[in-house]
Amino acid sequence: MVDPSEESTAIPSHVAIIMDGNGRWAKKKHMPRFLGHKAGVDTVRRCVEFCVKNNIKVLTLFAFSSENWRRPEKEVSLLMGLFISSLKKQIRLLHNQNIRLRIIGDKSQLPQKLQDEILRGETLTQSNTVMDLVVAANYGGQWDVTQSVKALAEEVKQGRLAPDDITEASITQNLSIQDLPNPDLFIRTGGECRISNFLLWQLAYSELYFTPVLWPDFGGAEFEDAIASFRGRERRFGHTSEQVEQGQVSNYVQG
Ligand code: IPE
Ligand code: IPE
Ligand code: MG
Repeated sequence: MVDPSEESTAIPSHVAIIMDGNGRWAKKKHMPRFLGHKAGVDTVRRCVEFCVKNNIKVLTLFAFSSENWRRPEKEVSLLMGLFISSLKKQIRLLHNQNIRLRIIGDKSQLPQKLQDEILRGETLTQSNTVMDLVVAANYGGQWDVTQSVKALAEEVKQGRLAPDDITEASITQNLSIQDLPNPDLFIRTGGECRISNFLLWQLAYSELYFTPVLWPDFGGAEFEDAIASFRGRERRFGHTSEQVEQGQVSNYVQG
């Protein structure tokens, strides 16, 4: 467990993770890729427990990108099936832990059975307060900004908004998780150092952490390493170090 005694403000409120490396993990073990994805679900459970224990209020996980449809049909359909069965098992558990579940992304393109489970999970847990678990499925950061801008364009068309009144704040307000703080810490497992169209707008001032550890091997110790790295950073939000030392930097104001 992370020691919260000093600098408790340095514990991130929101951690966003690209869960990468399932396929390579399975390959190393001479197993089909799908078993890597299955093992990855156990890691999700471990990370949720870690966040609850360490008072991390929001965990956002990238489960399936808008680009992942390009994978072989068989893998995509196995992934959708795994998503459905995992939700079936986890929804009750999450609810019992007072965790709110939300799925972000273009849900209309997901299989109907999955959409039904998502609706059930989101509805059951919508008033829960201990933590927000956000899962990105058929999500793309570019899609998110586009759908926000589209909503604003519609308001302009209706005469309710002037183009000059479009601000960073109004774009933010129409994004998928506009009510949650931006991620403080971004983690990507699996060794690639890229964002892969995850939360583009919301990651503007997140601290980035890349680890070669493959997602199924990511556990409490690895999560603690990421938090330790985060705690060693100086977040300046455009200010100088001196200003930070004098306590003149409170927080990054969104949009
Ligand atoms: C991440 O693991 C899971 C999804 C993208 C669904 P990968 O399947 O990308 O694993 P690697 O990168 O091939 O090892
Ligand atoms: C990013 O992983 C998406 C998810 C983890 C869901 P990918 O493995 O699809 O990313 P790229 O294609 O290597 O950038
Ligand atoms: Mg990958």
